[in-house]
Amino acid sequence: MRGQKLLSPKLAIRLIFLLLPLAVWSCKKKEVANPAPDVTLKSVAPFPVGAAINPWLLKSNFNYYGRVATEYNSVTTENVLKFDFVEPQQNQFDFSEGDTILNFAKARHMRVHGHNLIWHNALALPDWVINFSGNTAAWEALFKNHIETEVAHYKGQIASWDVVNEAIRDDNGAIRNLDVNPGDGSIWRRNLGPDYIARAFQYAHEADPNALLFYNDYGQEWNSIKLDSMIALVTGLKARGVPISGIGMQCHIDINMSQANFKIALQKLAATGLLIHISELDISVNPGNDPNITYNYTLQLQQTNMYQYVVQTYKNTVPKAQQYGITTWNVGDADSWIPGFFKRKDWPLPFDSLYRPKNCYNGYLNGLKN
Ligand code: G3I
Repeated sequence: MRGQKLLSPKLAIRLIFLLLPLAVWSCKKKEVANPAPDVTLKSVAPFPVGAAINPWLLKSNFNYYGRVATEYNSVTTENVLKFDFVEPQQNQFDFSEGDTILNFAKARHMRVHGHNLIWHNALALPDWVINFSGNTAAWEALFKNHIETEVAHYKGQIASWDVVNEAIRDDNGAIRNLDVNPGDGSIWRRNLGPDYIARAFQYAHEADPNALLFYNDYGQEWNSIKLDSMIALVTGLKARGVPISGIGMQCHIDINMSQANFKIALQKLAATGLLIHISELDISVNPGNDPNITYNYTLQLQQTNMYQYVVQTYKNTVPKAQQYGITTWNVGDADSWIPGFFKRKDWPLPFDSLYRPKNCYNGYLNGLKN
């Protein structure tokens, strides 16, 4: 055999021609059999899905940036368009960080939801407003100027706004006015009269007639008195021709939430005919403030099931034309407000502190699919 070639050049060429189609076919077969598309929340959601985001994390954390860009098609401006950030001194406006979020979203064709124009909470009010001592006309002027300047800055760019946030009392469903507990009254109601809510919507609408305008609040799933007041408020506004487009149901809930009450709340809210936005979803696993808690399998499973329930029920209860979408309040557990605010361990979001999907992310996905 020495000196004898195994394949003559002719035979080799023939073999190549024979085998080539087989090779191509097997490659194609591989593509079809193993398409491995990236499944993300936005790729399966029949409505917009979003998160409240933070511009400093966008600028400093690659995992955060990537996760937001990949999973969502809507973002809410978490803190940087609140009164204290935007107008820290009277008539001195700062939109720099709002613009960071806007530019990020614009480049990716994401929807931007502005949060929020008018809120009583002192955590988001600058001192000059808290200490303001003008007469009614001066209060009205600062209120109008704030709303109009902010909405006009983002005219045509921010799709929707939480115009008034959390105006209703927990205990009796009345509009917040005097403090019941320290700081829970409304400086706006006290200085502007009971119809300030309608005027806030009017001013926002005048500044951007195409923006969708929301009333945003919490507690619908556990407080039926508050829920009914909210519905009376928004239906009253609508009946008077006040330009309100939707209701934000914040949904800061926990793994023990009553699913029956959640569904009733959604049904009642949807019956208003307005858009319904689950606007600040997070699901706490430690509502009892247990200092020794560990994020064990049972808690993760309960949380996964609750994510699935909430998302699936929204999808199947709210008429399609009224589904403004679901937004979580923050992206990963490390940026959630809950551990800091309640001074406890908790893991309420679909991503962990390194922005990797957790088990409850699959609950969210399943809810979107079912
Ligand atoms: O960034 C500063 C930091 O530099 C400083 O050292 C530190 C000291 O207090 O404060 C940091 O700012 C805090 C900011 O969150 C960022 O973490 C503010 O004090 C704090 O008041 C602010 O809290 C926000 C709160 O609204 C008030 O604006 C929370 O992040 C935010 O999650 C929370 O969001 C609200 C929604 O707007 C309405 N619905 C309820 C929701 C949760 O409370």
